[in-house]
Amino acid sequence: MTRTIKLAVIPGDGIGVEVTEQANRVLDAVLAGGDVVLDRTEFKLGAERFLATGDTLPAAEQAAIAEHEAILFGAVGGVPGDPRLKNANIERGLLLKLRFDFEHYANVRPCALFPGVESTLKHPGEVDFVVVREGTEGPYAGNGGRLRAGTPNEVSTEVSVNTAFGIERIVRHAFSIAEQRDRKKLTWVHKTNVLVHSGATWQRIVETVAAEHPGIAVDYMHVDAATIHMVQNPAQFDVIVTDNLFGDILTDLAGAIGGGIGLAASGSINPDRTFPSMFEPVHGSAPDIAGQQKADPTAAILSAALMFDHLGLQAEGDRVRDAVRADLAARGTAARSTPEVGDAIIAAIAPRA
Ligand code: IPM
Ligand code: MN
Repeated sequence: MTRTIKLAVIPGDGIGVEVTEQANRVLDAVLAGGDVVLDRTEFKLGAERFLATGDTLPAAEQAAIAEHEAILFGAVGGVPGDPRLKNANIERGLLLKLRFDFEHYANVRPCALFPGVESTLKHPGEVDFVVVREGTEGPYAGNGGRLRAGTPNEVSTEVSVNTAFGIERIVRHAFSIAEQRDRKKLTWVHKTNVLVHSGATWQRIVETVAAEHPGIAVDYMHVDAATIHMVQNPAQFDVIVTDNLFGDILTDLAGAIGGGIGLAASGSINPDRTFPSMFEPVHGSAPDIAGQQKADPTAAILSAALMFDHLGLQAEGDRVRDAVRADLAARGTAARSTPEVGDAIIAAIAPRA
């Protein structure tokens, strides 16, 4: 029987459009001749849309997106500092609004150094870990404000929100990922020496959940120390679970270690499946190279593989990753056009087993 998957596509701005095009081609190539078909709806959202219509994320469009099984997302945002985008609120009003409202509490970002890819590190060793970043709380929650703005007495607060509920659900999800992996190791990262309140709640919950997973070795690192460890010995990591902002910063670093941000994939996942999960490269819309078909679509393509996994299509996800692996082993990350990389990956896709 044919399975039809309703897929919302938000290519966004700049290179988001270019890399999403290639990810869609790869999705089609992997599914060709099988019994899964994609029923796509494209939503034109982002800085371009705001400039054309003044909309960031109209409620009716958000409701329509919610009716899909998954979201393939490119990247959004215009040129930083563009005065016309002053009130666009693209990050909070679009990207974070989707992540928050659709309960994307698990921001899952794998970092693997594929053969043929050069890391920024001289001796990276075997790099294969996944950062499980909390996606709905912490300093991202939007709890704060600005008083007396523009005066010498200006006061601004950005309060980090940490709920036991929110911490427990991300910690449980991270342990369940660690259980599925070979090395059975989980590192939780925080700043408990300074952020003593939220740190204590994280610690209590990690210890409680750890007790239910005796087969997982658990260790702890302060986030500043974690950056040193990630550079000096990334091979030690298997699963990292951390707060929203720490995870944001660590996954850019992880991107560099894994061969560059052009390869870094991400899933903003709702493990409870009450809303569609969203799959997006870690990189942004890169207005400086937009429209030139220069961007590496591999991150978007690997994000599409994470989408296959989430949809229960693990074999399809593996075929995408294997094709990416073959392409990188043969050609590395040498400069190629966006469609050339797409073509090479499509040519490397193995026939279905
Ligand atoms: C990311 C991005 C976003 C974030 C921005 C664009 C809001 O940096 O996906 O890592 O901070 O989460
Ligand atoms: Mn980021």
